[in-house]
Amino acid sequence: MSPKKPLVFNIISECKTSMARVGIMELPHRAVDTPVFMPVGTQGTLKGLLPEQLENLGLQIMLANTYHLGTKPGAKILKKAGGLHKFMNWKGALLTDSGGFQMVSLLKLAEITEEGVKFQSLNEQKAEVMLTPEHSIEIQNAIGADIIMQLDDVVATTVPDKDRIEESVHRTSRWLDRCLKAHQRPDDQNIFSIVQGTLFNDLRTQSIHDLIKRNVNGYAIGGLSGGESKDDFWKMVILSTSILPKNKPRYLMGVGFAIDLVVCSALGVDMFDCVFPTRTARFGCALTMTGQLQLKKAKYKFDFNPIDKDCTCVICKTYTRAYLHGIAARTPVACSLLSEHNIAFQLRLMKCIRDSIKENKFPQFVAEFMLGVYPDKD
Ligand code: GUN
Ligand code: ZN
Repeated sequence: MSPKKPLVFNIISECKTSMARVGIMELPHRAVDTPVFMPVGTQGTLKGLLPEQLENLGLQIMLANTYHLGTKPGAKILKKAGGLHKFMNWKGALLTDSGGFQMVSLLKLAEITEEGVKFQSLNEQKAEVMLTPEHSIEIQNAIGADIIMQLDDVVATTVPDKDRIEESVHRTSRWLDRCLKAHQRPDDQNIFSIVQGTLFNDLRTQSIHDLIKRNVNGYAIGGLSGGESKDDFWKMVILSTSILPKNKPRYLMGVGFAIDLVVCSALGVDMFDCVFPTRTARFGCALTMTGQLQLKKAKYKFDFNPIDKDCTCVICKTYTRAYLHGIAARTPVACSLLSEHNIAFQLRLMKCIRDSIKENKFPQFVAEFMLGVYPDKD
């Protein structure tokens, strides 16, 4: 067998007036069209949806979380099962996040040292768990995702301490070296590195240059979307996409609002992930091209229209807003129906972005999209 590259990224179309581009990312399990949105299935399941349904929606890649899977079912079982693809019956591509960030963001009980991230276990019997770069990669090798993420030292954008942020930039590079050394499956799993540096131009620039020297197959922009202003957020995305290599995928982590997907695609981002579309579905919120519908609101009681008349998903073809209003109070069925529509919406939005770039109509698409979201503003 001739050795196959685990990732081939071809840019097939570029926008003439922005940094937006359309690409095809060939991964071991399947090819992925970019710019792409990846929904998050934390524990090897996208809550309320079967892999078959996701496949029918045209989903090409989804995300899973190392820490959660490492705890339950655990690396041993996943390895024995032949990896997460087989275990959960998902034939598409998978990406796993490295674990430390979730613990910092979810539990706020993490302590970061040079060795790794130490946190209180979700499991009450075990008091503390240390997630090191080596351990994160070991679990990610057992899971077997097409793309795995380095363990990074994430500092929130609201932290003002520049010395701490500088330390996190250097530590993230050192942890990348440890991850690369520990990686047992470079032939069929790609490690992506993660740019840090919060809102400091000089530190983010340094982080990018340090990571570029390590020459991995893709780069993530991390540490954003954590409470900073939109202005600061855009600036850091532009800075990053302007310096990162053009010929490799760029992944903006934790971003999934429609408007951010449109703007950041224009800034040259190729991949996004976020829990937002599925989490908000569980609170009765449906996404549309003109904004969000809170279906629990009384005004939908007698509204016999679909969520979105332009959506081709089976939920919009089958159910009315009035029906969904009636069951929207966090019942498992509502969660499943709205999650399916919201994922279909994210996929349709990304297809619109890609098609308009290919047809040389991206500026018109952006203008129409903004008018849909802000109809009263000129
Ligand atoms: N998800 C959202 N932001 C980040 C980040 O900075 N690092 C990691 N590992 N995951 C993220
Ligand atoms: Zn729909």
